[in-house]
Amino acid sequence: MTLQFLCFFLFLATFFSVPSSATIPLGVTLYASTPNQTWSSPNSTFSISFISTSPNVYTASITYSGGVPIWTAGSNVDSGGALHLLPNGALRLTDGTGATLWDSDTANRGVSYASLEDSGELRLLTNASIVVWSSFDNPTDTILPSQNFTVGKVLRSGLYSFSFLRSGNLALEWNESVVYWNKGLNFTLRANLTTASLVLQAIGILSVFDPTSTNGDIVAYSSDYAEGSDILRFLRLDSDGNLRIYSSARGSGTTTIRWAAVSDQCEVFGYCGNLGICGYNGSYPICECPSQDFEHVDANDGRKGCRRKVEIEDCPGNATMLQLDHAVFLTYPREVFSQTFFVGISACRLNCLVSPPCVAATSLANGSGLCYLKTSGFVSGYQGPVIPSTSYVKVCGSQA
Ligand SMILES: *[C@@H]1O[C@H](CO)[C@@H](O)[C@H](O)[C@H]1NC(C)=O
Ligand SMILES: *[C@@H]1O[C@H](CO)[C@@H](O)[C@H](O)[C@H]1NC(C)=O
Ligand SMILES: *[C@@H]1O[C@H](CO)[C@@H](O)[C@H](O)[C@H]1NC(C)=O
Ligand SMILES: *[C@@H]1O[C@H](CO)[C@@H](O)[C@H](O)[C@H]1NC(C)=O
Ligand SMILES: *[C@@H]1O[C@H](CO)[C@@H](O)[C@H](O)[C@H]1NC(C)=O
Ligand SMILES: *[C@@H]1O[C@H](CO)[C@@H](O)[C@H](O)[C@H]1NC(C)=O
Ligand SMILES: *[C@@H]1O[C@H](CO)[C@@H](O)[C@H](O)[C@H]1NC(C)=O
Repeated sequence: MTLQFLCFFLFLATFFSVPSSATIPLGVTLYASTPNQTWSSPNSTFSISFISTSPNVYTASITYSGGVPIWTAGSNVDSGGALHLLPNGALRLTDGTGATLWDSDTANRGVSYASLEDSGELRLLTNASIVVWSSFDNPTDTILPSQNFTVGKVLRSGLYSFSFLRSGNLALEWNESVVYWNKGLNFTLRANLTTASLVLQAIGILSVFDPTSTNGDIVAYSSDYAEGSDILRFLRLDSDGNLRIYSSARGSGTTTIRWAAVSDQCEVFGYCGNLGICGYNGSYPICECPSQDFEHVDANDGRKGCRRKVEIEDCPGNATMLQLDHAVFLTYPREVFSQTFFVGISACRLNCLVSPPCVAATSLANGSGLCYLKTSGFVSGYQGPVIPSTSYVKVCGSQA
């Protein structure tokens, strides 16, 4: 854009100031049973409505033009669900029985209307236009350009969460106990982190800004940065535990992955559930069980994990260690490091066999000389031809 054109544009914008938000009065309701009912932003870039994720399952969501959801109120509802902007100023999701499933907690706080901005932000405001509540301050699994993701905020998807830690690091965590991705930048070298924020620029650059950095510290470029027009880029924590930048052309309803925090999906802790083994079929991650001694918890969904056909407790004195070549049981910080030993492969196998709480073990063949014993109730495996390590999982001997 030339400077001349830009000036002209600013001139136009000054003289023809277009309202940038659509007002939603108190006392109105959206019903899941009439999903084509919507509240739209002024230029219809974003709208709020019930969308159906599977038969008789609905979510009250803000969607981008074309139907890509970017924020969701509470949980799933059935066709009796409704989203109310109550006369007392609360935004509330109810199910068919009238029970409250989610509430903005803004009753009697002076809210006099809601607005949906063309940026995708839903706000609850007072008569004096003071923002009492904003979807940008209460994100679900997505961050939009112009949304300010500050220290202490969290995105969630199932058991996974993404947070901007006080240390200045960005972290992906499983069940608030295992950090499987941790991006450290140099913020600790600088002052007051509480004023820092993670921002996805509209052109597709994800960076962290704080008052002492002018250009921000770049976390990632989307592969299509600065390309195309009328494209929305957004950052989403997906239900598979990966954090991705997507782009979506207006009205298309389709999304394209432009960056993923964890490039190897099998390194996402818990992706294949407890005792599940992640591997690749071509470029697709698949979830299998360690051996015939195991079965999927849910035959239709490998990600739910595996269980032993015969539990260890049911074969006292007869347990054995099943060997898995080219496999690791994922071990990340916050798991018990006291279960790490400098021992060779045979001792690694034997130590697990004789220790009742041990369910699996990995002897790393990466030069570290380490052996991990897995005693936690949840183990997550990865098997693939490029993995040098050998793992063992405890099974009942008579099964083999
Ligand atoms: C909404 O959908 C129903 C049936 O799906 C249809 O009868 C109705 O005309 C639609 N209303 C609008 C405003 O599009
Ligand atoms: C907001 O203003 C309108 C009209 O000025 C008034 O009727 C209403 O009571 C006000 N609401 C609140 C919550 O102050
Ligand atoms: C997640 O953590 C909670 C609390 O520590 C625990 O009770 C639960 O079993 C864990 N979930 C899984 C799938 O291990
Ligand atoms: C962190 O700071 C060091 C020294 O100032 C610098 O060499 C390094 O490139 C920085 N790393 C990042 C990710 O900015
Ligand atoms: C983002 O949040 C920080 C910290 O709360 C604040 O200083 C900054 O003004 C915010 N920026 C925007 C654009 O809202
Ligand atoms: C691997 O992919 C092929 C081709 O898509 C498919 O036929 C096969 O069932 C897949 N194998 C597994 C174990 O998913
Ligand atoms: C142990 O396994 C052997 C076969 O390997 C079987 O004959 C025996 O009954 C098993 N003992 C127990 C206690 O399950």
